[in-house]
Amino acid sequence: SALSLVVLDEVDSTNAEVLRQVADGVSGVPVAIADCQTAGRGRRGRVWSSPRGQNLYLSIGLTFHGGFSVLDGLSLVLGVAVANALETLGASDIGLKWPNDIFLPSGKLGGILIELQGELQEGVVQVIAGIGINVHMAEAEEVDQPWSSLGNASPGIDWSRNAIAGNIITAVLDAAHQFSENGFPDFHAPWQRRDIFAGMPLEARNGELHGTGEGIDEAGNYLLRTEQGVVPVRAGEISLRVV
Ligand code: BTN
Repeated sequence: SALSLVVLDEVDSTNAEVLRQVADGVSGVPVAIADCQTAGRGRRGRVWSSPRGQNLYLSIGLTFHGGFSVLDGLSLVLGVAVANALETLGASDIGLKWPNDIFLPSGKLGGILIELQGELQEGVVQVIAGIGINVHMAEAEEVDQPWSSLGNASPGIDWSRNAIAGNIITAVLDAAHQFSENGFPDFHAPWQRRDIFAGMPLEARNGELHGTGEGIDEAGNYLLRTEQGVVPVRAGEISLRVV
């Protein structure tokens, strides 16, 4: 269906903006883009650094049918879609850090924050997919982890935020449709190819679990090869980190 696209000079959070649009009963697929955010949010309650004019802050409202369980794997699906969209524009070596950080070899390039609006009617689930991509972020920007940007990694490309937004919106809507129709299996191999944890020494569950990154299973859980065998780690359960 048609997009209901708003482009804002400034907003608290584009995710919050799309949530408001959905609450107001907007027709079409709600999409919000902003030049800067005053209360950009990241996963796990973190702040998402959102300086003016330098990056992409984009949120898309997606509707799924079949209850919350159909969302398993969605964050991985969106990571694949965003990575493919950026490579279509000339980026290379886009990796994914489970469950859905967008990485370059030099650091974190972007992130995806999925928020649930809830069940509108029986079985109809509304999701807000918020995507932040560092495009031309100034070196001085203070972020709590090593970061990179498209401009840093591929300075030869004239990165246009409009082109990036257009490609990502199309890729996300196509991927969401394919995921609704066929489920997660189509995205398993594309995600594995980009796994930055593969073969790395990892820990989970606050250090109670140690192992080597083995990729994902058919449901999108991350697999750790431990001394006790292969153990799946569920998305949202606990963050994985390299040790
Ligand atoms: C993460 O923690 O890695 C997820 C970051 C998601 C940031 C994007 S920017 C657009 C949208 N609006 C927000 O407030 N957050 C997301």
